[in-house]
Amino acid sequence: MDIFTSVCWICCKMRVKYSKFLIIILASSLCLVIFYSKLKNVGPSPRGETELLSITSSNLKNNTTTTTVATTIKKVQSVIPYKLPHLNISENFRKFVPKNGAFWNRKLHALLRQFDAARNQTFDDPRNRFKCQPESFELLQTNIQDVQSYPSLYRDFLKGMECRDPPIFIDQPGKCVSGNEEEHIFLLFAIKSAPTHFERRQAVRETWGKEGTYENGMQVRTVFLLGRSSMDDPSFDKLLSLEAQEFRDLLIWDFQDSFYNLTLKEHVFFKWMLESCPRVSFVFKGDDDVFANTEAILKHLNSFEPTKELSLYTGQIIFEASPLRDPKIKYYVPQSFYEGPYPPYAGGGGFLFSGNLLPSLYHVSLYIPFFPIDDVYTGMCFKALGITPVKHDGFKTFDIREQDRENVCVHKDLLLVHQRNPQQTMRLWRNMHSSMLTC
Ligand SMILES: *[C@@H]1O[C@H](CO)[C@@H](O)[C@H](O)[C@H]1NC(C)=O
Ligand SMILES: *[C@@H]1O[C@H](CO)[C@@H](O)[C@H](O)[C@H]1NC(C)=O
Ligand SMILES: *[C@@H]1O[C@H](CO)[C@@H](O)[C@H](O)[C@H]1NC(C)=O
Ligand SMILES: *[C@@H]1O[C@H](CO)[C@@H](O)[C@H](O)[C@H]1NC(C)=O
Ligand SMILES: *[C@@H]1O[C@H](CO)[C@@H](O)[C@H](O)[C@H]1NC(C)=O
Repeated sequence: MDIFTSVCWICCKMRVKYSKFLIIILASSLCLVIFYSKLKNVGPSPRGETELLSITSSNLKNNTTTTTVATTIKKVQSVIPYKLPHLNISENFRKFVPKNGAFWNRKLHALLRQFDAARNQTFDDPRNRFKCQPESFELLQTNIQDVQSYPSLYRDFLKGMECRDPPIFIDQPGKCVSGNEEEHIFLLFAIKSAPTHFERRQAVRETWGKEGTYENGMQVRTVFLLGRSSMDDPSFDKLLSLEAQEFRDLLIWDFQDSFYNLTLKEHVFFKWMLESCPRVSFVFKGDDDVFANTEAILKHLNSFEPTKELSLYTGQIIFEASPLRDPKIKYYVPQSFYEGPYPPYAGGGGFLFSGNLLPSLYHVSLYIPFFPIDDVYTGMCFKALGITPVKHDGFKTFDIREQDRENVCVHKDLLLVHQRNPQQTMRLWRNMHSSMLTC
């Protein structure tokens, strides 16, 4: 306005013959100036850019890989938060987890109280509550008297329990997009892998995890879920970035890939699905050392009516399990950490669930403290949603009889066996698809 007034004032003063002409020229240059200054504000803010760069350079041990990885790195924390759906947490679940002195039990019931208190406040976003500050050992000690006796990896898990939002390091934003359209994916294989498992991933790609269009136009896609290798390992960053470029199926987040971080891996996977691949009918989540019978899985899934209400959670269901208290085993859970039964849960080697549950699963997982055993955690989330797992005898997460392990005909009727090495997987797949097969 000011400039316009002064322009007019100058024109009048000068009483130039071509004053109108002059005004038009001045006004249009003004418009151009405004237009360009606006243009500069479009796109990532300078702050976003520096965040991106700092993540790239601090995480990579070698500069030469920076450019290749950066192409798939996603802008951090600038994504508009996904709108969380309405949520009910089942009474059954609340009663199932006993109220006692164990750390996890106390944490859960505190979160449930927060959930109830916030139920009437639409502005409360549980995602804002997690502050990823390394929990001091003193604080842990006041909360858990005997934390000193926990194995050191367990203490690492406890320290990181509130860290739920590691940046994604290698992303596949186009995984579920075709052209400019979001594709309708029938089945997504989400396979827990680790940085060094190159051979296992390749065997999966060449066999049961092969992407493409299957019978009746069913679209199948595959992603491998990875964290980072530990500081003591040689760096595989360059190999992984080449692998990601070649196959476009790696998702790598910036946290240490370890057994106790598998729950975190599941949580970030749910979030990724909501942002990058929300329209899938079914999700398979499993390990990279299983043999899955893709045709049999598709056939089974095809028997369901893909309605909005479908709440499928199926696999080999482990009923009535409870924590193991021997500190020497992988699945050890200290008494002062969790006390109570485990919900029925599908063995983590491989299970299926319907894609429409992803928003609720993600939302409810914000009210359930991380648990060191990922498939038990998944069972907790489903129980909190009031969904009962359905057992399917075709899932053999504890493998089959020794004498049947190379028998193709036995595998033909199964959906999944754990575990098979890459060579066995290749052999089984080849023979299963041989025209000579007569069973
Ligand atoms: C970085 O990679 C280049 C080759 O790509 C290699 O020559 C160099 O030694 C590497 N540097 C470090 C610090 O790893
Ligand atoms: C990486 O790049 C930065 C500047 O881009 C440079 O200062 C640094 O020396 C480089 N590091 C290595 C290991 O090449
Ligand atoms: C939650 O529970 C209320 C009342 O019990 C019910 O009306 C509503 O439909 C439920 N919402 C969901 C998403 O299940
Ligand atoms: C939430 O609203 C319902 C109905 O409006 C009310 O009965 C309930 O007490 C409220 N809960 C809290 C925690 O304010
Ligand atoms: C999980 O990942 C975080 C982030 O890299 C790391 O600090 C923590 O030690 C890891 N936890 C375990 C139990 O490995």
